[in-house]
Amino acid sequence: MAPSITTDITGSAPAGTDGQLVHVATPGGAYDIHIGSGLLGRPQTWAGLPAAADAVIVSNPVVWPLFGEALVTALGPNYRHITSVLLPDGEAHKDSTSLQRIYDHLLQHGCDRRTHLVALGGGVVGDITGFAAATYMRGVPFVQVPTTLLAQVDSSVGGKTAINHPLGKNMIGAFHQPLRVVCDLDTLTTLPQRELAAGLAEVIKYGPIQDDGFLGWIEDHLAALLDRQPAALRHAVRRSCEIKAAVVGADERESGLRAILNFGHTFGHAIEAGLGFGTWLHGEAVGCGMVLAARLSAELGLVPGAYVERLCALIGRAGLPVVAPAMPPERWLQLMRLDKKAEAGEIRFVVIERPGCAAVRPAPDALVRAVLEQHCVGPDARAVAGAA
Ligand SMILES: NC(=O)c1ccc[n+]([C@@H]2O[C@H](COP(=O)([O-])OP(=O)(O)OC[C@H]3O[C@@H](n4cnc5c(N)ncnc54)[C@H](O)[C@@H]3O)[C@@H](O)[C@H]2O)c1
Repeated sequence: MAPSITTDITGSAPAGTDGQLVHVATPGGAYDIHIGSGLLGRPQTWAGLPAAADAVIVSNPVVWPLFGEALVTALGPNYRHITSVLLPDGEAHKDSTSLQRIYDHLLQHGCDRRTHLVALGGGVVGDITGFAAATYMRGVPFVQVPTTLLAQVDSSVGGKTAINHPLGKNMIGAFHQPLRVVCDLDTLTTLPQRELAAGLAEVIKYGPIQDDGFLGWIEDHLAALLDRQPAALRHAVRRSCEIKAAVVGADERESGLRAILNFGHTFGHAIEAGLGFGTWLHGEAVGCGMVLAARLSAELGLVPGAYVERLCALIGRAGLPVVAPAMPPERWLQLMRLDKKAEAGEIRFVVIERPGCAAVRPAPDALVRAVLEQHCVGPDARAVAGAA
């Protein structure tokens, strides 16, 4: 597996930034993830990017008022023109209409092939901006400035970009690596608690699939994470980025290993599409999906029931749903057959082979049905779990 390098840059960084770098090396591009406090508004953060006349910041009406001005000021020395395009907020707008808005803006402003796109927001903004960057004039550079926990620990890293199709999540997309990722931990202070919990789902994910020790660390520090203590958040973001960097470094295009990052996502995407995009947050669907995938792993005889209960308890403590919404099993199976891991109509699941080690496997429909029948309670399961 390609190593990821973590460099503590505390010594060289300006006071107060407590910055760290995680390096990502893939055939499609090598870049650094900058992690720390106070990064976004510092011109030094943006030094060393290739020369370009124009930068276009893509954001939304929630995030732009919080961080837009500071970002424009800090980026100022690098560009002659900086413009912005704001997309409507939310997963339901991760679609071709939002994408078209970005293309319209780029063309109306005469943006050329060297224009930099800058994604300022959560995973929705990041995924759409990345896809626009991958396709505008057959590809322009882009930078990720993730402002949700989920985007900092997962979606901004690794170059997967996409929009949703009404028939399936992330069905239209491309691989396109960013030039740089800047995770400013200060942005997480304004995040709603429900969004923080959704991000924790992707943090927790790295434990079962790659690092059982990290799972133990999360169990011990969950209260600090929910309380947004900077040291805990910094460690969670850094370790998550290190694991993701190592996995995508070894398998950028998901020909094998990278699929393990989808632990919980086969069930989770079915929840999102089945209920309508945006009803459950992506991270909530993944949290619940991980419980179902762990239960399936136990049914396959791979992990003991006690391990499933351990994971389920942690996901529940994080404030995430652990019981799935009721949908007829046939509907679940139909939605899961659309999953990108499916081959010739056979659904393939990321299962836990042993704590800290995942694999992709098919599972008999009957077994999947049994798991679903035992563990789906109702359409408002998120509320039920949240109240528990
Ligand atoms: N590309 C990948 O590899 C990858 C991996 C995981 C998830 N994803 C995608 O990421 C998306 C989910 O991302 P998300 O959870 O960040 O959702 P999101 O982008 O919808 O952001 C969540 C909400 O938080 C708001 N917000 C963002 N930053 C904020 C801040 N600092 N303060 C206050 N509010 C803020 C947003 O406006 C939005 O309302 C999904 O579409 C999922 O498919 C992609």
